[in-house]
Amino acid sequence: MTLRYGCVGAGGIARAKHIKGYQNIPDVEFVAVCDENEKFAKEVADKYGFNTYYTDYRDMLEKEKLDFISVCTPNFLHYPVTVLALEKSIHVHCEKPIALNAKEAQQMVDAKNRAGKILMVGLNNRFTNHAWFVKQYADEGLFGEIYHVRCGWKRVRGIPGKGGWFTNKAMSGGGPLIDLGVHFMDLVMYFMGYPNPVSVTGATYSKFSENKCVNSSGWGMTGDDNGIMDVEDMAVGFVRLDNGATLDLEFSWASNIEKDENFYEIRGTKGGAIYCHGELKIITEQISTLVEINPNLNFENPIDEFSHFIDCIKTGKEPIAKPEESVKLMQIIDGIYLSSESKKEIYFQEEII
Ligand SMILES: NC(=O)c1ccc[n+]([C@@H]2O[C@H](COP(=O)([O-])OP(=O)(O)OC[C@H]3O[C@@H](n4cnc5c(N)ncnc54)[C@H](O)[C@@H]3O)[C@@H](O)[C@H]2O)c1
Repeated sequence: MTLRYGCVGAGGIARAKHIKGYQNIPDVEFVAVCDENEKFAKEVADKYGFNTYYTDYRDMLEKEKLDFISVCTPNFLHYPVTVLALEKSIHVHCEKPIALNAKEAQQMVDAKNRAGKILMVGLNNRFTNHAWFVKQYADEGLFGEIYHVRCGWKRVRGIPGKGGWFTNKAMSGGGPLIDLGVHFMDLVMYFMGYPNPVSVTGATYSKFSENKCVNSSGWGMTGDDNGIMDVEDMAVGFVRLDNGATLDLEFSWASNIEKDENFYEIRGTKGGAIYCHGELKIITEQISTLVEINPNLNFENPIDEFSHFIDCIKTGKEPIAKPEESVKLMQIIDGIYLSSESKKEIYFQEEII
């Protein structure tokens, strides 16, 4: 069965990830690509062998009989493009974050349920060796009870494109919390089986929007000096979950710290895990002695994101990165923004959705 593929958005992630990912899969026909920037649409159509290109996604979804699409647009378009595609019975592989907020995310889940199609979120970190290993380790009960998790992604300097869509709240939904935060908050929630958030307290800061320093690779503030930056450059938060566990988080695009770092930590009664920049360590007890395990993760990713999505379409099985889980992730993000604004702890049942 040949599946007719369309890609909405022909920018960075479309080229680096989705189009390359689907090129390696047999039975996928590259039918159409759409970008509002005609030059990008044409360039990508020519380079990657799409039959045609569009500058309006509504035309593309109307005219081409597509089986599935990638949504690789700025965040504010994830919701309208996905819902329209699902209404036309098209499966959707949507980039992260699923949407601007939990309300939109829930409506995307509702549209998916009405259509009976697959909606998967492009949370690519779930498909890595370390995440696969830690998830199996957690599911086997080898951490014991996971009672606390920490995660973060901190940059010395690295605000993406001031004046572009990333720094414009209406288009992005927020700064590093929604951009980087979804990756590692998603992982630690996934390892625990996605408990529901009970309450959140958080704070966001915007201190570097005029900063001119660059990091050691020469990366700092790129883009238009006079452009809009109405999102945070750092967010911190503390979340209580209904399994009794807690989550501590910190995400920043710019900070006066020694080096960039991305990490998660799991604290369990039988073992813990520390992941930092590609290195994973498990700490556990054997014969009443603490031991450190360094898993050899030097093997191919066990599951490929793109083959997995095609498999879900063909077999009807649920995807690994389920949109229902991303609704909870967005509730946490909404809660942190609301808590920062109101300077109060947010209780989900009372204040959100
Ligand atoms: N999974 C990851 O690690 C990862 C990494 C980077 C970006 N992303 C996500 O991918 C998405 C795109 O990010 P990017 O870095 O590729 O951004 P980008 O700006 O490079 O690309 C976005 C493209 O969408 C196009 N576009 C804008 N409005 C459009 C419209 N109405 N119709 C069609 N095309 C339109 C733009 O012209 C641009 O070419 C974002 O949601 C981002 O969060 C994910």
